[in-house]
Amino acid sequence: MGFPMKIGIDFGTTNSSVAVARNGVVEMASFASSSGLSESFRSVLYLDMVKQAGGLTGVKSWAGNIGIDEYLAADPKGRLVQSLKSFLSSRLFDKTEILRRMYTLEDLIARILRDIREQAETQFGVPIRDVVAGRPVRFVGSDKDEDDQFAVARLEKAYLQAGFEKVQFVMEPVGAAQYYESRLDHDELILIGDFGGGTSDFSLLRVGPGIRERGRRPNDLLGNAGLGLAGDAFDARIIRKLVSPALGAGTQISSMGKMLPTPNWVYAKLERWHHLSFLRSRETINMLESVRAQSQEPERIEALLHIINEDLGYQLHRAVQKTKCELSAATAARFHFTDGTVEIDSMVTRAQFEEWIVEELRSVETCVDGLLTRCKVERSAVDMVFLTGGSSFVPAVRKIFADRFGEEKIQTGNEFTSVARGLALM
Ligand SMILES: Nc1ncnc2c1ncn2[C@@H]1O[C@H](COP(=O)(O)OP(=O)(O)OP(=O)(O)O)[C@@H](O)[C@H]1O
Ligand SMILES: [Mg+2]
Repeated sequence: MGFPMKIGIDFGTTNSSVAVARNGVVEMASFASSSGLSESFRSVLYLDMVKQAGGLTGVKSWAGNIGIDEYLAADPKGRLVQSLKSFLSSRLFDKTEILRRMYTLEDLIARILRDIREQAETQFGVPIRDVVAGRPVRFVGSDKDEDDQFAVARLEKAYLQAGFEKVQFVMEPVGAAQYYESRLDHDELILIGDFGGGTSDFSLLRVGPGIRERGRRPNDLLGNAGLGLAGDAFDARIIRKLVSPALGAGTQISSMGKMLPTPNWVYAKLERWHHLSFLRSRETINMLESVRAQSQEPERIEALLHIINEDLGYQLHRAVQKTKCELSAATAARFHFTDGTVEIDSMVTRAQFEEWIVEELRSVETCVDGLLTRCKVERSAVDMVFLTGGSSFVPAVRKIFADRFGEEKIQTGNEFTSVARGLALM
């Protein structure tokens, strides 16, 4: 192996990517998946019991695209965990039990990062110990800077546990800005909007070849802003409107002569990918079994139990994702999910979807307007707006910027890799 090399890693809520820059030329790491090589590594971890030598059983884990393949092939299923990045700011998530073993959040994330590091080492042919790592401006669930610092400290711990020795954190939208700058032949004041799975991040900054040549100054970065919501929050609305009612949300149970609502907290967890697979605990299942016995709609609670017991979070995610992505390209789409005796099938229009996510869109507007006000920058002073991240494909998200800055100022590109590319260039 050659000399150690520094790489850029964008550990995303949904997708991660890795890039290296050699003499200003960026190379992406590719990862194997059932549909060929991909520059995205799914940020998931699959754990399952396996028979080991001597007939003992132990837990084995697989990260990323390979983890999904293992999960899909398994019967019965182990445990697939998604959107782990969204737990980083949560002090409630310290340790968790999976398949009768205890894990810290850092253990689970480190397992994914280790795989990413090792696969990148194999591809680039050098040991990798140094990393420029992305971080969101505001983590999911964070209310204040203290929560973000707590989250970054945990993420750093996970990187170190994964075998990295030096971790330098950079705001994800600043990373995306570096990538955008590499395409420029003049200087600009740009607004970056990075809409991912977990977070929406914004930076307002001056970039360009002139700035790079004279040397960057701290005040070239006018400001950052962030929101702990993005694609996963849009998915949550689809679950709430289309899926949960079919699984008994809002139905009644009769208990000792009284009518009570089916416990709502279960559906709140069902809506969030990072919580869903943790619903599969003995207590929750026992509780739902007794709910089923008293329910006015027992077959719906049975369907919910089926999804939890069979660990169908990934399939549900895939169905929601498909509908959501189709709605970015067409004005209506079908939602279809089926497994065993569970079948949910309905049509959704883009207008309906936009109505469901109206609160999230408002928060984005407030956040962007607040950033400009705080930086004392008029909309007309912004030269270009660079939108990136998978959720920037949502037309209503794009419209927020087109309305404010004009369609002609919107730039896009490399939605899933711009952050890692920029981090590598730093
Ligand atoms: N065509 C599309 N239309 C709408 N949403 C999409 C589309 N393609 C991908 N997405 C959504 O984009 C999100 C993933 O984007 P991305 O990979 O940029 O996020 P991430 O970097 O993993 O997350 P974060 O930056 O928040 O940590 C998912 O919520 C996915 O459903
Ligand atoms: Mg991202």
